[in-house]
Amino acid sequence: MRILSGLQPSGRLHLGNYFGMMQPALQLQHEGEAFYFIADYHSLTSVRDPLLLRQHCQDLALDFLACGLDPEKAVFFRQSDVPEVCELSWLLSTVTPMGLLERCHSYKDKTARGMEAFHGLFAYPVLMAADILLYDSDVVPVGKDQKQHVEVTRDIAKSVNHLYGEILKIPEPRIQESTAVVPGLDGQKMSKSYNNIIPLFAPEKALRKIIMQIQTDSTPVEDPKDPDSSLIMTLYKLVADPEAVAKMEHDFRAGGTGYGDFKQRLFEAIWLKFEAPRQRRAELVADPAYVAQVLAGGAGRARSVARVTLERVRKAMGLGA
Ligand code: ADP
Ligand code: TRP
Repeated sequence: MRILSGLQPSGRLHLGNYFGMMQPALQLQHEGEAFYFIADYHSLTSVRDPLLLRQHCQDLALDFLACGLDPEKAVFFRQSDVPEVCELSWLLSTVTPMGLLERCHSYKDKTARGMEAFHGLFAYPVLMAADILLYDSDVVPVGKDQKQHVEVTRDIAKSVNHLYGEILKIPEPRIQESTAVVPGLDGQKMSKSYNNIIPLFAPEKALRKIIMQIQTDSTPVEDPKDPDSSLIMTLYKLVADPEAVAKMEHDFRAGGTGYGDFKQRLFEAIWLKFEAPRQRRAELVADPAYVAQVLAGGAGRARSVARVTLERVRKAMGLGA
């Protein structure tokens, strides 16, 4: 089984990215041949500062490795180190109906929020299809918001196969339902674009300050509170062990504890949960040569697979001699 996924280097890694995509993807690296990449071509649709893009790429590489990506198991690379993906993207675009892209929520949401409708943003799902199809992927672990893009990929691959013979593998999205949509500080989906994120690797003081911003109702300290409708509780369940969760639920119902105390417990649980990755990350920051070597090795392995698929598609479509 080949597993593939990517993350855009467009900001700080947050709990939504981690629980929605990274953790499930990292678990899968033990179950098959994993290809994970930093989607820097995609980030060009939102990051216009070259220095910042490089910094985000470096940060995301550190994040992946710190969280447990094993370069011996998974092929880990930067998308733009395999430019073959751009050629496949063009080939796929020739069979992609405009209507398929016009229906994509992500494009509609972004333009509705004021992003200019550049062609790259519109064609984003075609490049994503190329990422997936270039590596003959079977399974694509992603958060729920990316499911539609994997469905578009399937449609595009089926069109190619219909026109040119069975040359592309049809991938399946893999969504971990329990963490498909992690809420942010305001209760909406956690997202960089909504300014409501909890970053994994913020410094202690900054992280505590962020957690204290979680929205709550105005129930007085002494009154009982409803754990089932609380954002604090939802987030706590992701990071705390079952006994601690049961204790917090009990304390919610009993009354006498304020939201500030619950937030403090949540902060401590998050801090503890990412203690080991934080340390590993600090070690990796001090060893940029190692990170560069991992990415170069991954690019080489990815490229050799990519070339074979691309050649197959070019030939089937009538390109080359
Ligand atoms: P953002 O919305 O912050 O820009 P991305 O769109 O870059 O995040 O998402 C990267 C990956 O993380 C995708 O697979 C996406 O589905 C997943 N993801 C992002 N936010 C969440 C969330 N709040 N809950 C679950 N998964 C998420
Ligand atoms: N679009 C994905 C996101 O915003 C990133 C991505 C690019 C991706 N190419 C991919 C994810 C291929 C899975 C497979 O998170």
